[in-house]
Amino acid sequence: MKTKKVMLTGVRPSGNLTLGNYLGAIKNFVDRQEENNSYIFIADLHAITSYIEPSKLKESVYNCVAMYLSCGVKPEKTKIFKQSDVLQHGTLGFIMTFQTKMGELSRMTQFKYKSQNCGKSGVDTGLFVYPTLMVADILLYNTNIVPVGKDQQQHVELTRDLAQRFNNRYSKVFVEPQTYVSPVANKVLNLQNPLEKMNKSDSGDNKGTIFLLDDLEVVKKKIMSAKTDSLNKVCFDEINQPGISNLIGILSKITGETYKEIENRFSGRGYGEFKKEVAEEVVKLLANIQQRYKTFNNKEYLDKILFSGAKKARVVASKTLKRVTKAIGLN
Ligand code: TRP
Repeated sequence: MKTKKVMLTGVRPSGNLTLGNYLGAIKNFVDRQEENNSYIFIADLHAITSYIEPSKLKESVYNCVAMYLSCGVKPEKTKIFKQSDVLQHGTLGFIMTFQTKMGELSRMTQFKYKSQNCGKSGVDTGLFVYPTLMVADILLYNTNIVPVGKDQQQHVELTRDLAQRFNNRYSKVFVEPQTYVSPVANKVLNLQNPLEKMNKSDSGDNKGTIFLLDDLEVVKKKIMSAKTDSLNKVCFDEINQPGISNLIGILSKITGETYKEIENRFSGRGYGEFKKEVAEEVVKLLANIQQRYKTFNNKEYLDKILFSGAKKARVVASKTLKRVTKAIGLN
């Protein structure tokens, strides 16, 4: 029998998941969870790189696990756990930080972007070093495939560089991971400002962001009032028609059609009809997820799932960490 590849991803528990999270990362994962040896975890240690109210953090973790399950993650196929429940993440994160150059972390575009908004209080070190914790997350499980959005690909590349450096410097302990890039571009953009990613923190009253738990009538409205362009032609052109291209991307990811197929189907028809169909497909998708959320949103049940996921994760993580400490001479 062919051995399965290891696939792993993590999501921050910060608030509601968006359609962008689902189509950009979670769906890729769910579609492949059975063909791979799969792990998904809630990155609660990453969540504290900047202050978050403790009770809110706890709630968000539960919310997040329930959301993953609702999105189709199956605990019998995928090890689903909380990062902080597996102490090896912190230890390996610490070790990997010491293998990293300041320059490498300063070059991370996410760091550059986020540190701009820190103002007077200064930039948190957490923001600076958090990629090395992500490196540890990935390396602990001998991960081959990391399905993430484009904004995280640079961190996976860093993981590969650091794995290589460690393997050359000490001994071949780590597997070098690949990112998984979906065949269609996997960035979902803000509906009101299609030059920006669809983000949980939306500056425009959330009109440009669809949350998976949004009221379905609101979802329809958000899509119908999405910013479009002036050509009035349904064709994929990210430069001249970023708004429509974003909607084509969304529809394509949901129905599995290619951009060309969508363009052909809507040739000679206006934006209105097109948006109506996008809205219907998104609403159908979310109705299904929301129905499942009602069943899974039960703390006792979620605790059981997390407990058993962490137990399985720990077995693998502790083996890797032992190999690391042995290679370094710490054992
Ligand atoms: N850094 C990711 C984010 O902000 C979350 C994350 C943490 C992650 N560790 C990971 C993703 C490991 C993939 C693999 O979205």
